Amino acid sequence: MNLRKYLVPEFVIGDNALGMVGRYALNFGAKKILIVTDDNIIKAGWYSEVREAIEASGIEYVVFKDLTPNPKDYEVEEGASLYQQEGCDIIVAVGGGSVIDCAKGIGIVSSNKQSVNLFEGVDKVRYPMPPLICIPTTAGSAADISQFAIVLNSAEKRKIAIISKSVVPDISLIDGITTTTMSNELSVASGIDAMVHAIEAYVSNASSPITDLNALKAIELITANLPRVVAEPNNIVYRNNVMLGSLLAGMAFSNASLGLVHAMAHSMGGLLDLPHGNCNAYLLDNCIEYNYDSCAPKYQDIYKVMAGSKPLKDRDIKQGLIEYVRNFRESFHVDLGSGEICLTDTDIEQLSINAYNDPCLATNPKNISKEQIGAIYERVFR
Ligand SMILES: [Fe+2]
Repeated sequence: MNLRKYLVPEFVIGDNALGMVGRYALNFGAKKILIVTDDNIIKAGWYSEVREAIEASGIEYVVFKDLTPNPKDYEVEEGASLYQQEGCDIIVAVGGGSVIDCAKGIGIVSSNKQSVNLFEGVDKVRYPMPPLICIPTTAGSAADISQFAIVLNSAEKRKIAIISKSVVPDISLIDGITTTTMSNELSVASGIDAMVHAIEAYVSNASSPITDLNALKAIELITANLPRVVAEPNNIVYRNNVMLGSLLAGMAFSNASLGLVHAMAHSMGGLLDLPHGNCNAYLLDNCIEYNYDSCAPKYQDIYKVMAGSKPLKDRDIKQGLIEYVRNFRESFHVDLGSGEICLTDTDIEQLSINAYNDPCLATNPKNISKEQIGAIYERVFR
C-alpha cells in the first residue's frame, strides 16, 4: 500500500449542533470571540442563534462581517486588525466557504503577523492559528474540516491556495438546518462543488483506500439527494443527506487534494470574481473528457455510483458519464450565470497561466499544458 496520511478535525454533526458553540468556546478557555460572518447569514437568522448561544455562555464577542464572496486579502487584514484591537483569543466562523476561508486567513495573519499572501502553497504556515470553531451554512465547500484556505490576492487578481494542517479548524458544528435558508441557485452551486470535490479526490493521484470510500459515498449521496433538495427545499432529511455528502467529500479532498476542475475554477474566481461552485459546474464535463483515459476504471466506478440504474458497457461509459454530469447540471433549471461569462483572448491567456500554476493541478491524474487548458476554456466559454 502506498504511504498516506489522513487528517480530519473533531466535528459534531446533527440536530442542534449549532447550539453547542458556547460550550465549546468555554472548553477552549475563550475570553473574547471574533465572530466572522456575512450579511446573508445575519439576514437568514443563523447569526442570531449563534450569538444567543454565545451570550448564554457569558463570553464576550465582537463581529466581523465586512467580507465578500471569494474573500480578498485586504478583508482578511481588516478582520485580523479587529481581532488584535479587541483582544480576541478565539474565532467562530458562521457561514459558507468564503466566510470560513476568510476566518482561516484572519487566524493565520493574527498568529504570524505577515500578509496572508505569503502563505500560499503547501505547509507554509509557521505558527498555528488561534482556536477556530466553524458552523457551516452551505453544503459544499467543506472548509469547516479541510486543510485548504482559498483567498484572493487582490493585486494579482489571483486566488491563492493555502494548504496546511495549520488551517484545519479545531471543531466543526455541522447542523443541516442551517442549509435550509439557501436559495436553489446556491444549493445547486454548492452541491455540485461538493460533488466535484468527491470526483476529483477519487481520481486524484494522491487518493487512498480511505479517501476513496469517502468520495464514492459522497457522490452517491449528493447525486441522489441534490435534486430532492431543489424539489423540496425545506425537507431536512434531504438537506442532511447533502450535508453528509459534502462532509465526506471534504474528508476525501482534504486528504487526496483536487485536480484540473478546481485549478481552472480557482483561476476564474480570481481573475473574474465569479462564484466558485458555478465555475466548477461548467467545467466538470469537459475536464472529465480530458482526464478520462488516464484512469478509466475509476471514472467507471463513478458512473456506476451515479447512474447505477442505467448500465452501460465499459467502453461506452466515457460518453455516458460526460452526458450524465451535463444533464445533471442542466436538470436543475437554475441560472448558474453562464451568460455572464464571456472570455477575451487576454482573459484566456491569463486564466491558463494561473490554472497551470495552481497547486491543485499537482494531483490531477493526467498532465496538461497551458495551451490545452486554454483550449478547454475556449470550448466551454466561447
Ligand atoms: Fe470547491
